[in-house]
Formats: sequence, C-alpha cells, structure tokens
Amino acid sequence: MAGFQKGQELVLRVDRLSYGGRGVARADGYVVFVPYTAPGDLVRARLVRAKRSFGEAEVVEVVEPSPDRVAPPCPYFGRCGGCTWQHLRYEAQLAAKEQIVRESLERLGGLQGVPVRPIVPAPRPLGYRNKMEFAFHPEAILGLHVPGHFDRVVEIDECLLPSPLASAVLREVKAFVREHHLSCYDHRTRQGFLRHLVYREGVRTGQVLVAVVTAPGPFPDGPELARRLVQRYPQIRGVLWAQSGSLSDAVKVDRLEVLRGESTIEEELGGLRFGIGLETFFQTNTEQADRMLQLALEMAELRGGERVVDLYCGVGTFALALARQAGFVWGVEVVASAVQAAWDNAARAGIRNVEFVQGEVRHVLPELVARAGTPDLVVLDPPRSGAGGKVMRKVGRAGPRRVLYVSCNPTTLAPDLRELVPFGYRVVAVQPVDLFPQTYHVETVVLLER
Ligand SMILES: C[S@@+](CC[C@H](N)C(=O)[O-])C[C@H]1O[C@@H](n2cnc3c(N)ncnc32)[C@H](O)[C@@H]1O
Repeated sequence: MAGFQKGQELVLRVDRLSYGGRGVARADGYVVFVPYTAPGDLVRARLVRAKRSFGEAEVVEVVEPSPDRVAPPCPYFGRCGGCTWQHLRYEAQLAAKEQIVRESLERLGGLQGVPVRPIVPAPRPLGYRNKMEFAFHPEAILGLHVPGHFDRVVEIDECLLPSPLASAVLREVKAFVREHHLSCYDHRTRQGFLRHLVYREGVRTGQVLVAVVTAPGPFPDGPELARRLVQRYPQIRGVLWAQSGSLSDAVKVDRLEVLRGESTIEEELGGLRFGIGLETFFQTNTEQADRMLQLALEMAELRGGERVVDLYCGVGTFALALARQAGFVWGVEVVASAVQAAWDNAARAGIRNVEFVQGEVRHVLPELVARAGTPDLVVLDPPRSGAGGKVMRKVGRAGPRRVLYVSCNPTTLAPDLRELVPFGYRVVAVQPVDLFPQTYHVETVVLLER
C-alpha cells in the first residue's frame, strides 16, 4: 500500500458491491470499502480506517452519481441499521447479489465456472417481512439500531419492510409508553425497564403476535397495554410479556407470560401450517421462502421412496415439504423447542414419515447414518456462520448421491462447498433467491451430485 492515512481524502470510482453492502473502489490498487455507494459512483471519500491490505472510507461528496442510484423510499435510511441498499434500483440490488454469489464461489470456494442461475426477484421489494424486533431506548423511546451500534437507537414512526400494521403497532406502543411514563432500557448503564417490542405476523393467516420484552421486575401497565392493542387491532391474536436479564442485546427470554390471548400464531408455507411463538425461528419473508422451497423441491427431483436427512431443520419447513415427496425424512435440530414445534407441525399436517432428532448436527449425523443407512439426499440450511469443515466432511463421508445446500451467507457457503469436492461431489446448479430486498443478504440453493 502506498502510504494511505486515516483522515485522508480520496476521489474514488466504485466498481462493485461487496457482501456486507459496501461499495468497493481502488486507489492505486489499494482496496477501499465505502458504504452507501453504488457501482459507477465517483465519490470524494475520507479514509476512516487505513489497514495494510484495505481501507474504509466515508462519502464526503458524490461527484458523479451512478445511474443505479434512486431516492431511498424511507426517511430513516442511512441513520437506521435495518437497510443497506435503499439507495439502489431494485434491479441493481439483484445484479449485485448475483455477482456476490458467483464471486464468493470462485474466490472463497475455488469453484470456477459453476452455473449460477439468474436470481429470483422478490415480487414485493417492500412490505415483505413477517417479523420485526424494535428496540426501546431512553432517548429514542422506540425504533431500530443505528448501524454498527447495538447500544444506540434511531427513533422511527414507520418501517417499510413489514406490513403497515407493524408500524401502527409501533406507534401505538410508543404513545402508550409516553402517556404512562414507562422507562426504557439503556445498554450502556443497564438501567430502565422496556427492552424490545417484537412483532410477528402470519401473512397468510392474518394472525399477529406482539411481545414486549422487559428487564426483570413487575409490569403493572402490561395488561392495560395488551387490552389497548387488541382492542385497536383485532388481528392481534396474542400479547406476550417476556422478561430478560440478558446482557446481550438479542432477544433472550428468561420468563414468558401471556398478557392477552394466545401464545402462538400460525403461518402457511409450502401448503402446510406452522405454529410460531415468540422465539421460534421462521423464515422472515413468507412469500419468497415459499418460492425458494418450491425451487429446492424441484431441484431435489424426488421420485418417492428416497431417504432424506434435513440438517438444521428448525421447525421442519423443508423436512415436512420433502416428506410429502420422499420415503422418509429425518430432521436434525439443536433447539429443543424447535424440535417440539416440528413434531407438532408434522402432527397438524398428518405427516408420519418423519422423525425429528434433537442435537448438534456433528454428533447426530454420524449416529443417524449408522442407524438408518446412507441417505439418498442430505439437505442442509445452516445459520449464517455456515456448517463448517468438520460437518461438511461428515456429510461427504455419509456419501448421499445428492446434497442440497440452502445458504443465507455466500461467504460461508463457498468454503463449505469446497469441502465436498474431495469426496467426488460436483456443483450441478446454483439458484440465488432474493428473500431480503433493500439489504445485502442473499439466499442461495445449491445442488451437488456425486
Ligand atoms: C437458518 S435456520 C434453518 C431453519 C429451517 N431450515 C427453516 O427453514 O425454517 C438454522 C437452524 O439451525 C439450528 N442450528 C444451529 N446450529 C446447529 C447445530 N450445531 N446443530 C443443529 N442445529 C443447529 C438453529 O437452531 C436453526 O433452527
């Protein structure tokens, strides 16, 4: 690097977008990441970090805007950490995601020239999320996190990613907090009562679940808030109160009480009904998850009779859909409540050719293969961190004819896939799907064959 320093201003041409959302530019070969830019932008930017191998810069002025730029539809864009790409035309977001998938496979997976299909766009680039976690804060009352700051919140009155009902509930709760002078939690001081407002919606069933997460302690205003919410918005099936003493800013529940109505709602996916509680992992874009599920089923080409293992199965979304086309499906999941929910979902649908096993994939998979024999198909949908080399080698040793990898992070997908190559697997198809418009996140379904 040619002696770049923090604070220095550079004029940069952004040539692409990276996973994480930032634009990538080069100054004399030195790679600089610049957030909130678009491919083709010419910007004047100030270096805020200058490492040996790369730098990070903030835009001072857009000298020549890219034709891919649009006016962000949300007034909080840039101050709120929820979205990264509202300044980009939707088509440009799609192109960037497709390119990120292709480049990750090549650079991080050593998989040259694999066939990447065109990304499946979302029919609704806004209003698609069925779950929101708003944060309380003494200065902001209620909103979303400032980008990169778990302890700072930008106050909002509306979010464009969920349905308008989520914003109505947000405003109602905020008004109630003001009227009743309730205190909000501050992460820095660990003082205050209200921590999170969670909104979950079964978009296909019209059922809504609202949860108020607080610090431990009494909540005398809780029942009144719940009554008011249900009265104003009859779609709300249940209002929950969760107490959390956790130091982390994620929603962690120590004690759960129903303030009003039910503790769960239902959602429909792949023609099946799923029960959803406060903590249940469920795909956050129902419509696109459904499309992804259909694509995955088509790619799996089941004829009936196959033995399928669904790793990281959650509440059984893939396992149950696969079971209707296969001989038998084993689902593996570490969270006990998700396993219970998966059994409940199977019973609700009258699906009997499934078994859900609780435990870590790395322990359960070899046991399962020893007990039930070589599967015909292994499906895996790991968390963002990926499955990791150890698990992938166990998949390779299990030796299914086909592997279907569903990924929410191309940068962990690629090294995971690479692990299967020595076992004789070849990537047959790569299908990116846009489940998260306005963000850099991309879902990818990959079919491998031995
Ligand atoms: C991306 S979600 C996929 C869920 C499911 N396929 C779906 O579509 O709803 C990943 C799941 O893996 C589970 N999980 C994470 N680490 C695990 C491990 N080591 N062993 C088993 N399950 C794990 C999580 O609890 C979560 O339910």
